[in-house]
Amino acid sequence: MTSRIPPVVRRHRILVCPPEHFTVEYAINPWMEGHGRRPDREEAGRQWRALRDALARTADVVEMPAAPGVPDLVFTANSGLVCGRQVVLSHFRHPERRAEEPINRTWFAANGFDVIEMPAGLYFEGAGDGLWDRGGQRLWLGYGLRSTLEAGQFVAERLGVEVVPLRLVDPRFYHLDTCFCPLDGGFVLYYPEAFHAAALDTIERLVPAERRHAVSREDAFAFACNAVDTGHAVVLHDCSAELERVLHDWGFDVVRTPLGEFHLSGGSAKCLSLRLDEEPAPDEGHEPWPLAAGD
Ligand code: ARG
Repeated sequence: MTSRIPPVVRRHRILVCPPEHFTVEYAINPWMEGHGRRPDREEAGRQWRALRDALARTADVVEMPAAPGVPDLVFTANSGLVCGRQVVLSHFRHPERRAEEPINRTWFAANGFDVIEMPAGLYFEGAGDGLWDRGGQRLWLGYGLRSTLEAGQFVAERLGVEVVPLRLVDPRFYHLDTCFCPLDGGFVLYYPEAFHAAALDTIERLVPAERRHAVSREDAFAFACNAVDTGHAVVLHDCSAELERVLHDWGFDVVRTPLGEFHLSGGSAKCLSLRLDEEPAPDEGHEPWPLAAGD
């Protein structure tokens, strides 16, 4: 059994945005339709505060102000991709979310980040699709449903990092963080059915078998992959006893905090947070883009 040595971790800095204006008023993913009701604002507020408080136990939580007319702004994972003092600002595929871009740009600039803009015509949805590996320097990039493949090439060149593209094929798992979760020490949770066959090969080739776990359909649909690794615990909506056992064996504590109101919008714990202190390890020479078999 491979388990990690729990690291001596610096408190992470995590950005959140209160759900004062959270609702579902358009449908840009399958979770957003067919429920016959909108999220309950009171309950969403309670769930969000419980998540914030759970994160604040071991991390420094920073709140960006809520804003009217942008109901998905709560999903701070989608504001951009942080790399040291730089941030690659998201450019959303769906026009419904593009009004968030100037708000995010202003927040990052005011908080000391160098803001990198996506070139025209490329979509990139930040830390929803761009996930840093926790065992090394590579960035995993989900593409095909929201972010475009070429966005990965741009990020690889601008940040000088290795980017491994993974093609997503199931509209219910439209962002990489809904079906893939890199954890401290290089462990990975993933839901195989959400990936193109070539992407699955890539994951299984790059992550040793004892450091990855294919989650069940039940766990995937409970957003178990949409988990926040605070360095001390894995914070998520819910997971099966089986998955909890795997995480324990790897050395992680599990903290459950219900987020059902946000599932009506297709988001859970990880989507509602953005780690601000991302410091990828120094570059020790990586494969130039494009990587072989990186489909
Ligand atoms: N309603 C939002 C959308 O479809 C949810 C975003 C969830 N964020 C995430 N990082 N997966 O864009």
